[in-house]
Amino acid sequence: MLVYVPPHPLIKHWVSVLRNEFSPPPIFKSAMAELGRLLIYEASRDWLETIGGEVQTPCGVANVEFIDPREPVKVVPILRAGLVLVEHVSSVLPATQTYHLGFVRNEVTLQPTLYLNNLFAKLKSNWPPRLPDRFPDSSLILVADPMLATGGTIVAAIEELTSRGADVKNLRVVAAVAAPPALKILSEKFPGLRVYTGTIDPGLNEKGYIVPGLGDAGDRSFG
Ligand code: PRP
Repeated sequence: MLVYVPPHPLIKHWVSVLRNEFSPPPIFKSAMAELGRLLIYEASRDWLETIGGEVQTPCGVANVEFIDPREPVKVVPILRAGLVLVEHVSSVLPATQTYHLGFVRNEVTLQPTLYLNNLFAKLKSNWPPRLPDRFPDSSLILVADPMLATGGTIVAAIEELTSRGADVKNLRVVAAVAAPPALKILSEKFPGLRVYTGTIDPGLNEKGYIVPGLGDAGDRSFG
């Protein structure tokens, strides 16, 4: 498994703003969204297919390459906090489809529970689009979760996606902060995975929070 912490001063800056317990929710969310934009840029660097062609410029004809709009990246924010991390995804990736996946971690057992997927959508309606029963072959899937702590949530999320045909080698994870327990279990279960994170912290406290981390990203964003 590849774990990449982009060595960029802007990444360090936004992680620092997130860590500060005195950053109020609007600043916290803005920093998370900016960090997400940078991490998504890094994650897409050697990932997206282009289609070639020619365009007429004001001064001549140029060979060009555009991102293939027929193959939108499937963006999967893990609710709640993942929503903030992908807020600017459309300003980085020209073609996306977003699917929401809701998990909540039990504060005592630290076990994740899935509370939103396409079964819910089928009961209600087919719109907005939710997780498909089966992703098209070769789908590129970007999963966003700000905190990788015990790893229970991200593993459950990836298993939910692979049960619907997602191929781990076409799947990338973006996170604000990752802790060793999460990276260990991810590398054991999904050796072909790539993780892009703002930083790697030393460990977890007795409540399963990343230390020093940035607190509860969901609560700091949404109250
Ligand atoms: C937090 C966090 C991750 C998860 C990480 O979500 O945003 O999704 O816990 O923990 P883990 O690696 O030990 O599973 P939470 O359940 O608090 O939901 P929220 O985003 O709605 O606050």
